Amino acid sequence: MNEVETERLILRMWNDDDVDALFRSYGDPEVMKWIGSGEPVTKEVTADAIDRMRRHWEEHGYGMWAVVEKSSGDLIGRIGLMYHKDWPVGDHKIEVGWTLQRSAWGRGLATEGARAALDHGFDRLHLERIISITSEDNLASRRVMEKCGLSHRGRARWRGHDVIWYAIDRARRRAVSEQARSA
Ligand SMILES: CC(C)(COP(=O)(O)OP(=O)(O)OC[C@H]1O[C@@H](n2cnc3c(N)ncnc32)[C@H](O)[C@@H]1OP(=O)(O)O)[C@@H](O)C(=O)NCCC(=O)NCCS
Repeated sequence: MNEVETERLILRMWNDDDVDALFRSYGDPEVMKWIGSGEPVTKEVTADAIDRMRRHWEEHGYGMWAVVEKSSGDLIGRIGLMYHKDWPVGDHKIEVGWTLQRSAWGRGLATEGARAALDHGFDRLHLERIISITSEDNLASRRVMEKCGLSHRGRARWRGHDVIWYAIDRARRRAVSEQARSA
């Protein structure tokens, strides 16, 4: 019930044997430049990250999915919703986020998965606002936010980093969906 299918992707729960596949992203300096400390991590840390994503699902009933590309059956990254208790701006603390291995970039897959995550957040979880957080110079991520209908809302200091944040509200999301349907 918590799995989602899009045209090219399956967003599914995590398995114990997903570590090697996610490590294609988490072990790559180009990918990790934008995540956490900005450095690639070990397989052990990747396994811990999968455990944390599973616990998040158990605790909140939503979370980050494992992203599988249908054409190959390969796990290519993670996309979904995360609750950030320590987000310092306002009451809306659920973020839509994405990380894909480098070989998957540039084909619209992050946007496709992110739209499904937003649909899940608004239609199934009945959220009023979903935010997204990145660094100012992560232009690819900012572009994904814009293509999904999020708009720039401000800056913040969060977990020791200067970040910018975007958001989409329920009403705006309805307008974006109607535009997409009539296009
Ligand atoms: C961010 C990320 C998930 C995007 O994945 P993707 O599948 O390539 O994204 P999409 O193809 O859906 O969209 C990317 C958009 O950014 C644009 N883009 C990519 N690199 C860019 C750059 N350096 N400058 C400007 N725009 C850029 C692409 O052209 C595309 O826009 P378009 O469709 O208008 O041409 C991927 O780059 C990634 O995993 N990066 C490392 C991890 C990361 O940054 N995660 C987010 C942390 S906040």
